[in-house]
Amino acid sequence: MSNLKKILTNKISCKSVWFMRQAGRYLPEFREIRKKNKDFIKLCLNSNLSSEITLQPIKRYNLDSAIIFSDILMTPYALGQNITFTKKEGPKLNEFRIESLNKNNKEKFSKKLNPVYKAIEITRKKLEKEKSLICFIGAPWTLLIYMLGLKKHNNRLDLNKYNKYKTQFNEILLELNGYLCTHIENQINAGADVVQIFDSWAGLIPEKDIKDFCYVPNKKIVDFCRSNKIATICFPKGLKKNYEVFNNFVRPDGINLDAELDPQWAKNNLKNVVIQGGLDPKILLQTDEVILEVATKYIKAFKDIPYVFNLGHGLLPETDPDKVKMLINFYRNYNE
Ligand code: CP3
Repeated sequence: MSNLKKILTNKISCKSVWFMRQAGRYLPEFREIRKKNKDFIKLCLNSNLSSEITLQPIKRYNLDSAIIFSDILMTPYALGQNITFTKKEGPKLNEFRIESLNKNNKEKFSKKLNPVYKAIEITRKKLEKEKSLICFIGAPWTLLIYMLGLKKHNNRLDLNKYNKYKTQFNEILLELNGYLCTHIENQINAGADVVQIFDSWAGLIPEKDIKDFCYVPNKKIVDFCRSNKIATICFPKGLKKNYEVFNNFVRPDGINLDAELDPQWAKNNLKNVVIQGGLDPKILLQTDEVILEVATKYIKAFKDIPYVFNLGHGLLPETDPDKVKMLINFYRNYNE
């Protein structure tokens, strides 16, 4: 069993570090490949290159876990929605049609994502046994945000659209749940051993609807995983104090803190769960002294409980890879 899976399932303490977006634009070796592969979706569907990119940060830093190079938007892609990535504006999806959900079936969906599963197979063979291969999905709500374009350019919720489509949400979320469970199952069968569920836009849901659109859909997925002995890490970003309600309702094996949460608050209020991450990725743009001071705050806060060292969101493209190395060394050599 990989170290990360052991920590998550047995709730034991053991040093373990990986970073969200560890395979990405801050690495010159990634940019080299990306330059020659302008179509991001196609790159995600190139099993050999996807595996190579997944292993880049492992080779560079000997991290404890690899996360497969893919994207949460591969799910709407496999359901037939057209996606392009523009440099300035991020992902652009064409208009979503609710009928597309019924027109698909699990076989067709799985076939479209087969290159992702192949990339996992290739990577697992090359990765040391103790290292975890993490797979992931976007939580249903966060996928809805992109599929229906529910977010404005300033990253606020588009309330007009929200109210216009709201009556359809439950039906779409339920349909998505089936495809997402299939996607998880396929990734695990291919050799991944932990799944992270990214609800990056959970913080946009109006308070009265959080249960319906965040807690319940996440719980359905976590329950599915638990019945199949798949270890889960949830990331309901932006929930503030509702992280506690989320944790008690959803009961994942692990929970990733965002950078807004106070680590001491998290330690006192998030129980029966392995805590991961929290450190603001923007800190890595600061001086070594500042980086180590803030990192120490997290390491100290969680020194008596199982903790997986990670960030409060993905590594930023402008991060200096040497700072990442410095932080990893500091964490690994930290003794108290
Ligand atoms: O973490 C890893 O290293 C694994 C790969 C991974 C990517 N995206 C690769 C990627 C993972 C786990 C994701 C998750 C993802 N994708 C999320 C959830 C986490 C989060 O950041 O909140 C979301 C919301 C997406 C959707 C997405 N993909 C956006 C909004 C963008 C464009 C903006 C951005 O952050 O770059 C992407 C593109 C993307 N996904 C890139 C990478 C390496 C950059 C592609 C490029 O080279 O231009």
